[in-house]
Amino acid sequence: MEVSKRIFNLETETAFSILAKANDLAAKGKDIINLGIGQPDFPTPINIQEAAIKAIKDGYHGYTPSNGIPELREAISELVLNKYKTNIKSENVLITPGGKPVIFISALLLGSEDREIIFPDPGFPIYRSMIKYSGAKAVPLKLSEKDNFEINTEQLKELISDKTSLIIINNPNNPTGSYMNKKKITDLVNLLEQYPNVSILSDEIYSNIIFNNEQMPSLLEYESIKDRLIVLEGWSKTYCMTGWRLGWSIWPENLIEHANKICINYNSCATSISQYAGLEAIKGSQKEITKIVSEFKKRKEYVFNELNKLEKISCFEPGGAFYAFPNISKTGLSGNKFSEIALEEKGVALVPGSSFGDNAGEFVRISFANSLENIKEAINRLSTI
Ligand SMILES: Cc1ncc(COP(=O)(O)O)c(C=O)c1O
Repeated sequence: MEVSKRIFNLETETAFSILAKANDLAAKGKDIINLGIGQPDFPTPINIQEAAIKAIKDGYHGYTPSNGIPELREAISELVLNKYKTNIKSENVLITPGGKPVIFISALLLGSEDREIIFPDPGFPIYRSMIKYSGAKAVPLKLSEKDNFEINTEQLKELISDKTSLIIINNPNNPTGSYMNKKKITDLVNLLEQYPNVSILSDEIYSNIIFNNEQMPSLLEYESIKDRLIVLEGWSKTYCMTGWRLGWSIWPENLIEHANKICINYNSCATSISQYAGLEAIKGSQKEITKIVSEFKKRKEYVFNELNKLEKISCFEPGGAFYAFPNISKTGLSGNKFSEIALEEKGVALVPGSSFGDNAGEFVRISFANSLENIKEAINRLSTI
């Protein structure tokens, strides 16, 4: 029996295999510091844990509506109204098992052999993988160090054709940590307004981890593109809930019904217990989250300053998320080789830039989702490469 040819278009997320390799080496007794991981190192706040336990005890064990429990979708509508001053009906909110399915669903709905989808490169690897799976042509939008890894609108304009069905945007960005402020996002929207047939997927999963205390400039704030805007968001990064598998998304009128139908076919619903925990996360105290963001900020400053003291490494200053993306070209090594030596000889797990596209071979991603003490030791070790 042969598997469907389409499956060979799928790619993978190297961070998962690096994590497995790092865990394997650690299990064999090697002293490993993991800076490869894309998840907060803090536990899920206790009030959220308790809400989940309560949901189990209260008997919320069954299927929920496929688009999510109404009170959670309403809470998202309210959150969006308070934060971004825009009205989104709870019917346009879709709750999914993590934010990742939103990329899958968007690609299935908008990708096909005769179409093109533009994605950030370097960027979250699942974008390109899912675009290719859909049959559409994956068109990379190069993010350059000289532009602080922000979107260059002139360059984007050149990539848009009459075949473009979707443009994927990710702010703050994984893997670079770049953050586009309100002015830059407004310039981008001015360009997007010129292409009313092109849908937009704005991945805002790191929206709460911004280092200059600015309010996240969400694409939701722009009425002019609302009828073709999908927003990917979720609990994984903000609330330290990666394993709970819970995400939220906003869909335009013409896509929500189809998106929900994919959920019915694929996952029935997100885990009931996680949804009640997610409700507490949004409605409950945000104190713990504020503390976590300020800890990330401290680590960002340390990583940025210390990396730039090294002779052969230079790093642009991250504006959000919990990643630094240093240029290691002066070591004479590729990002792949540097990461291999870092893990196998120095016991530091990193992700090579090549895992995030074809445009970042001279970079590595450092996640600062680890204690400051471990980060200090890891940078000491990296300085000897
Ligand atoms: C840019 C980006 N989008 C989406 C996701 C997926 O998040 P989730 O774990 O909620 O599926 C991630 C996770 O690493 C990410 O970095």
